[in-house]
Amino acid sequence: MKDIQQTYMVSSVAQVNATYFCLTLDAPALAKQVKPGQFIHIKVSDGFEPLFRRPFSVYRAQKGRVEIFFEPVGRGSKFLAEKKKGDTLDVLGPLGKPFTLPGKNVKQVVFIAGGIGVAPFMMFSDRLKGHKAEKILLYGGRTKAHTFAMNEFKKNGVKTFVATDDGSVGIQGRVSELFPKIDIASTTMMYACGPKPMMKAVAEFAKEKGLRGEASMEEIMACGLGACLGCSIPTTKGYRTVCHDGPVFNLEELIFS
Ligand SMILES: Cc1cc2nc3c(=O)[nH]c(=O)nc-3n(C[C@H](O)[C@H](O)[C@H](O)COP(=O)(O)OP(=O)(O)OC[C@H]3O[C@@H](n4cnc5c(N)ncnc54)[C@H](O)[C@@H]3O)c2cc1C
Ligand code: FES
Repeated sequence: MKDIQQTYMVSSVAQVNATYFCLTLDAPALAKQVKPGQFIHIKVSDGFEPLFRRPFSVYRAQKGRVEIFFEPVGRGSKFLAEKKKGDTLDVLGPLGKPFTLPGKNVKQVVFIAGGIGVAPFMMFSDRLKGHKAEKILLYGGRTKAHTFAMNEFKKNGVKTFVATDDGSVGIQGRVSELFPKIDIASTTMMYACGPKPMMKAVAEFAKEKGLRGEASMEEIMACGLGACLGCSIPTTKGYRTVCHDGPVFNLEELIFS
């Protein structure tokens, strides 16, 4: 516990557009250790409210700094949005099982993200810069304001395809309408993160086409350490905790009701 629980200084908090915030921590040890798909569990206030920590994917880890990318949806994330440079945060991490890196034989890597589910893929695409595979991101967001990160992905050599609910950018519709962009003939590895209906659609597509893939699941968490079982989800191997056995699972293990 001692090793993974640390206090880090906030080096910046920026509202990057109408929807999203980026919070950066000075955290050299964490930046070195963390792998794509892992998360950090943050105590967002000094008091007892809110009582539980809040989990966030690591968006970027470089030059001794760790960034999270988030949408303030409730009390905890709104506390984070109000942090200032020089504040400190008590952080547990890195936690959870990371994504499996694609092998050298993988010819196409497909990231499939819905909304804030895009967060773990930025760091993943940073780490895959030297991998020869074609990298594509199929992204579904509510509006243009939710497509903020696309330019950064392009800088990492990732081809991006976007679907928005209102058609303000990309095609109008769901991310599953972008599945024809996946080159089934290549050795493909799919990685998904987003709302459950999207994950279900990805899992069904992978099964139908015989493709391999992993999904990063989200559940409301308490301990974040596999102790309280509060974040358990049904899998083909029985109930598994998202915080400790996941958040990354093989697509074929997941059971969607
Ligand atoms: C492994 C993991 C990684 C995550 N990474 C990110 C990230 O990179 N960026 C980001 O913005 N968010 C991320 N989340 C979601 C984030 O943890 C929640 O949005 C946050 O905890 C909400 O806390 P709150 O106090 O602001 O909202 P609350 O007041 O607690 O809740 C506001 C609303 O969000 C819902 N909610 C709360 N927690 C979750 C959750 N874990 N999953 C789904 N819905 C939830 C509640 O049911 C409620 O409707 C991640 C969650 C997990 C489990
Ligand atoms: S949050 Fe306690 S077991 Fe996952």
